[in-house]
Amino acid sequence: MNRKIIVTGGAGFIGANFIFHMLSAYPEYEIICIDALTYAGNLSTLKDVMENPKFKFYKADIADREKIYEIFENEKPDVVVNFAAESHVDRSIEDPEIFLRTNILGTAVLMDACRKYGIERYHQVSTDEVYGDLPLDRPDLFFTEETPIHTSSPYSSSKASADLLVLAYHRTYGLPVTISRCSNNYGPYHFPEKLIPLMIANALNDKPLPVYGEGLNVRDWLYVEDHCRAIDLIIHNGKVGEVYNVGGHNEMKNIDIVKLICKELGKPESLITYVTDRKGHDMRYAIDPTKIHNELGWLPETKFADGIKKTIKWYLDNREWWEEIISGEYRNYYEKMYGNR
Ligand code: NAD
Ligand code: TYD
Repeated sequence: MNRKIIVTGGAGFIGANFIFHMLSAYPEYEIICIDALTYAGNLSTLKDVMENPKFKFYKADIADREKIYEIFENEKPDVVVNFAAESHVDRSIEDPEIFLRTNILGTAVLMDACRKYGIERYHQVSTDEVYGDLPLDRPDLFFTEETPIHTSSPYSSSKASADLLVLAYHRTYGLPVTISRCSNNYGPYHFPEKLIPLMIANALNDKPLPVYGEGLNVRDWLYVEDHCRAIDLIIHNGKVGEVYNVGGHNEMKNIDIVKLICKELGKPESLITYVTDRKGHDMRYAIDPTKIHNELGWLPETKFADGIKKTIKWYLDNREWWEEIISGEYRNYYEKMYGNR
């Protein structure tokens, strides 16, 4: 069956990986990417699919109602998967406002467009951070879909607000929605402001590796392709109105990840510098993925030991991609390639 899927935020880390996954898993589907190309969006990431006749790109802000309605009017999509977001906790602590506009208002505008033009499914890509954090001394505790929302940062609060709106649109307007709440992702095209790519890039440049606090915070890491497969399963077989937690039981302390990266790259641990802790820093995230496993048969396929090696190799083989981000050159890519089209 043919389907037209709008993927927002597809020039970012997970959205781009999802586009590659969908174009290869469903060659008959049409994929329409909407991305505002903020600092986190990099169109060069999508260069291999730009000429694919099943792919189309729109540069647009999801909070721009007029523009979004115009795109829906033209495209009449069957499914919308919303990845577009401001996604970095540290930036949300410095300046929350854009997080409210993109993550909350943008979600509302997309869902209003879905109501206006009709849709088979609206899928919201959310995060385990909406559940707040778990204590380090209770390894028996995990986030389930019933764990109360209890956010810590402006980022997680904006994502939780969006989730509540999504569920309200389902109950009030009958919008056919699903939500996934995933743990920390890692893999190719991860923007080098986040822990793993930042440490790889800094280590390769022999620069200090800034670990917040004592580095004891725990995150539950999932290889990005496993997250993409989970969303694929949810949009095809997930139950409307439901939330699905996604995570692979792979909890690691930040400091252990940074040491592992040093080891893999043959760099000295003396590069590690302990810096002032993040304000309100969540201690531990840990997902219970029982529901998505039982209902949709999802299981992670990539073990962390293999995934981190693949990821490091990708950053070694694709130096230009992240060096252009660090130098700022990537921001000229759109103008250079598409400015006169
Ligand atoms: P990212 O920051 O790498 O990419 C975000 C993309 O959204 C960028 O391409 C950016 O240009 C685009 N964007 C931002 N504001 C926009 C706007 N107003 N209109 C249109 N496009 C806009 O983020 P990511 O890590 O790929 O995360 C994608 C989604 O997954 C986010 O919703 C995030 O909350 C969620 N998530 C991320 C993780 C993770 O570990 N990275 C884990 C769970 C959930
Ligand atoms: P991050 O990749 O920003 O993801 P999130 O905060 O959404 O989980 O950070 C992952 C962990 O790494 C988090 O505990 C903060 C920590 N961290 C550092 O110690 N140093 C850094 O430079 C960064 C970016 C993060």
